[in-house]
Amino acid sequence: MDGERHGFGEAQCACKLDLLPQFRGEEIDVLEHLDRLPPDPILGVMAAFRADSDPHKVDLGVGVFRDDAGETPVMKAVREAERQVLARQTTKTYVAAVGNAGFNEAMERLVLGQGHAALGSGRLRTIQAPGGCGALRLGAELIRAAAPDAVVHVSTPTWANHVPLLSNCGLRLERYPYFDPATGGVAFEAMLGALDRLPPRSVVLLHASCHNPTGADLEDGQWRELLGLVRRRSLLPFIDIAYQGLGRGLAEDAYGPRLFCAELPEVLVAVSCSKNFGLYRERTGALHVLSAAPAAADAAVSQLMRIARGLYSMPPDHGAAIVHAILTEERLRGSWEGELEAMRIRIQQLRTAAVQRLAAACPRKDFGYIARQRGMFSYLGVDVQAVRELRERHHVYLMDDSRINVAGLRLDNIGYFAEAVGKVVGA
Ligand SMILES: Cc1ncc(COP(=O)(O)O)c(C=O)c1O
Repeated sequence: MDGERHGFGEAQCACKLDLLPQFRGEEIDVLEHLDRLPPDPILGVMAAFRADSDPHKVDLGVGVFRDDAGETPVMKAVREAERQVLARQTTKTYVAAVGNAGFNEAMERLVLGQGHAALGSGRLRTIQAPGGCGALRLGAELIRAAAPDAVVHVSTPTWANHVPLLSNCGLRLERYPYFDPATGGVAFEAMLGALDRLPPRSVVLLHASCHNPTGADLEDGQWRELLGLVRRRSLLPFIDIAYQGLGRGLAEDAYGPRLFCAELPEVLVAVSCSKNFGLYRERTGALHVLSAAPAAADAAVSQLMRIARGLYSMPPDHGAAIVHAILTEERLRGSWEGELEAMRIRIQQLRTAAVQRLAAACPRKDFGYIARQRGMFSYLGVDVQAVRELRERHHVYLMDDSRINVAGLRLDNIGYFAEAVGKVVGA
């Protein structure tokens, strides 16, 4: 099919009156009245980066891990698991609405850790989801089914996509303070103060680790304090864990979900395998639901199956089968953990190197917080004018709110990046 002739091209999309001659006067006009929406900001940054032919260009926009060569390669453990999965596969028939049972169980153990009290309790259920986004949407739909008037409270700031994922099903969203730009850390007192005023049964969305977009994480002691508040005020925690292993380590990054699932009657945990297994396009994730009693857990999973049927029916198999193989085969698991650790160390080295080079290039501004933050993201802490100047004059691409993907840096271009920042913010 020729996209231009059939109206999919740029020119035809732009104006609803600009119909092709052969369709003028015809009466099917349902789609003709759609407004054209602006592109997602991240797509704009990606497109501008691609169109830039400067050899020094630096992509700090899109949130994918990159190696020293600037690539996002398939992990070795994933390649090997993939070979095994394909060799074993005898059918392409559907898996099940809840997905691959072995994967679901392995994900419970990965997130909560072997021997966690919730594992044998009969209160925990897991549904495979199309990525962390799918898990977040399933969780939101479950909350909506259980409590249509529930309000979900998200951090200021939070990952932009949390907003449509959690509110498109009709739930109301509110904000709680989270980030303190003065320290580059969590504004913990302000956060506690706001959450302490919420009515019972409010839902609180928490980032387990590697907060997107700030990189500012709760410390273990702060998770414990938050637990007391959540319990006292009868709040429902909904934890998003999309970067397990890329912050402090596999167990450390799951401290919050492990603690909350051990201590509370009800918790939702949305998990993504996109970053820590590098499975982005395979759409691999899971939603864990902890209920107060086994009967309530059964009811929740029955609801989730109905929700999944109405959204996408059955989850994709490939990524989940790969993760299952990696997590259950000792050699593959060891190889994956080693690769993940190397990714984590690389990010931390880049953070330290960025702080050193930025300190030399712009000594008047303190960027030390970048080394204390975790995961792929940090704010550069410059205004939108500076962001545009970085893009247009120095070919350094970051988001308008100054979020940078630290993993987009390379040891050989950190100097260039820091000097560009120095020129923009003033040495
Ligand atoms: C905070 C956060 N949650 C969830 C996700 C879900 O990712 P995916 O749907 O690709 O697994 C992402 C991805 O960028 C994220 O940053």
